[in-house]
Amino acid sequence: MTIAPVQSPSLGSSGWTDTRLILALEEVVEKELNRHLGVAKEWMPHEFVPWSQGRDFDGVLGGEAWNVEQSQVTALGRVSLVVNLLTEDNLPSYHHEIATMFGREGAWGTWVHRWTAEEGRHGIAIRDFLLATRAVDPVELERARMSHMSEGFESDNAHSMLHSVAYVAFQELATRISHRNTGKHAGDPLCDQLLAKIANDENLHMVFYRNLLKAALEIAPDQAMRAIADVVTNFRMPGHGIPGFERAAAQIALGGVYNLRIHHDDVLQPVLRHLRVMEFGGLGPEGLVAQNELGVFLDGLDTQARKFEERQAALLARREARRNAG
Ligand SMILES: [Fe+2]
Ligand SMILES: [Fe+2]
Repeated sequence: MTIAPVQSPSLGSSGWTDTRLILALEEVVEKELNRHLGVAKEWMPHEFVPWSQGRDFDGVLGGEAWNVEQSQVTALGRVSLVVNLLTEDNLPSYHHEIATMFGREGAWGTWVHRWTAEEGRHGIAIRDFLLATRAVDPVELERARMSHMSEGFESDNAHSMLHSVAYVAFQELATRISHRNTGKHAGDPLCDQLLAKIANDENLHMVFYRNLLKAALEIAPDQAMRAIADVVTNFRMPGHGIPGFERAAAQIALGGVYNLRIHHDDVLQPVLRHLRVMEFGGLGPEGLVAQNELGVFLDGLDTQARKFEERQAALLARREARRNAG
């Protein structure tokens, strides 16, 4: 199927409207959806929750009140798990965004609903795990969820279909890495296993959107390059609205769950390299400007990441010295 781009004076000769792009990409979506359904394996969240550890809380049932000593999960694990869970909790907002952008019809619609169903299991699984193992304060968690969801979530990229696709390609990988590293630092092998399962779902989501972005780069190279440059240079995690996010993010960065080095090396670069974004030829003047902007930004980010690593090493060394002295 070939759909000619719209000749629009405001968009230049290569101006594709969102509607036309969505139509032009429908076949790719169908192919990628079928590939996804072929490789995604069913898994059961309840199998990763140690229900035998669960018991009544205080309040209605008069059980035992929550206490930080009750769980083996590390302090870093707790902070990261809460950020990851609250991020997953805002699924109604994300669903609204992509259903509005991509539509609920045809292959796009099937993907939107399937993706939502898969994402739904992440919040369910993490919450069940945290409550059964008493890893976090349930009252604080519920209040944070109410506050976070009441704010809703509005993507920075809702104005453009290509920006949305570029954002989710990077964001799904960011989520994957964040779940995976949280599991590694959680201090609980079952939690690690659960988060590895979730991370695997996120990886398949990333592959779907990355392949879609690849097709978009072929169809509308200059516009796609502009979208990638804008998204990479303005990237924010969807959890940025969580109460106390800045403080949590600093702990998460220092602990090595998610920081500038990880963002550059494990999130941005793998997608950019796979799509050969920096070597991509056949660009017009607008695409070349965007590609150049991206190159300058990535160099700057690498420098910032190096400075962060120096600060991180110094802070951790000081902390270690204090521990040894005490
Ligand atoms: Fe998720
Ligand atoms: Fe995902």
